[in-house]
Amino acid sequence: MTAINGAEFELRPAEVLAVIGDNGAGKSSLIKALTGALIPDAGEILMDGQPVRFHNTLDARDAGIETVYQDLAVVPALDIASNVYLGRELRRKGVRGAVFRQLDKKAMQEEALRHLTDLKVSIKSVRQAVETLSGGQRQGVAVVRTAAFGRRVIIMDEPTAALGVRESGMVIDLIRQIRDRGLPVVLISHDMPNVFEVADRIHIHRLGQRAAVVDPRERNMSEVVALMTGAAEPTPLEREGGA
Ligand SMILES: Nc1ncnc2c1ncn2[C@@H]1O[C@H](COP(=O)(O)OP(=O)(O)OP(=O)(O)O)[C@@H](O)[C@H]1O
Ligand SMILES: [Mg+2]
Repeated sequence: MTAINGAEFELRPAEVLAVIGDNGAGKSSLIKALTGALIPDAGEILMDGQPVRFHNTLDARDAGIETVYQDLAVVPALDIASNVYLGRELRRKGVRGAVFRQLDKKAMQEEALRHLTDLKVSIKSVRQAVETLSGGQRQGVAVVRTAAFGRRVIIMDEPTAALGVRESGMVIDLIRQIRDRGLPVVLISHDMPNVFEVADRIHIHRLGQRAAVVDPRERNMSEVVALMTGAAEPTPLEREGGA
């Protein structure tokens, strides 16, 4: 089974690039290849023109790429602060040379709250387990985590899929704020109104490949859907990746 087959992908500085495509088109697989969650058999990834190779998701995080995955956004049983700091827990200063140091819960809670407040995600207490939150708030925690730690690239795979209109609007606002801070965001989404609201460019994925990149100011929603399903052909420029 080949989920990605010679897919081109280009992300530019401080842009929101939407990635759209039918179910099974290979969007998540493409993103997993960029974040070390899946190792491609061939091809190369360049960051600022330099080749990079990720053997696992930690490699990509070390390189500043932070991702909200479609399927494993948060750990429900852990509290909010622990979710924000998942995999990069703060520890107290221990005796020099100590191998195990105690978690610094207080620092994590304070910092998590600061990050949430920064991005205007309202939550009663960061000590609350994530399973007690609504779908939108959970997504908010996952998004805040990426925004707090992503230094180079933010990737979100269907961040609004489980959300209501108001909550989706919040996530779209967060995406805008992240871009306005100068970080590029890759947004995988089926929600065309959301895509058209926030995207600077739209990457259309079809049958495991990039079919086109279009400018949302030049194409409307029904044209983009037609390109996505193969009902319409892109222009030669769009096929080559756009202007
Ligand atoms: N772990 C896996 N093992 C084998 N095949 C897989 C695996 N994950 C995905 N696939 C296959 O790869 C193809 C692309 O899947 P992928 O999840 O990338 O699609 P997608 O565009 O993200 O779809 P969706 O819109 O449903 O999220 C599909 O045909 C899928 O069945
Ligand atoms: Mg997917």
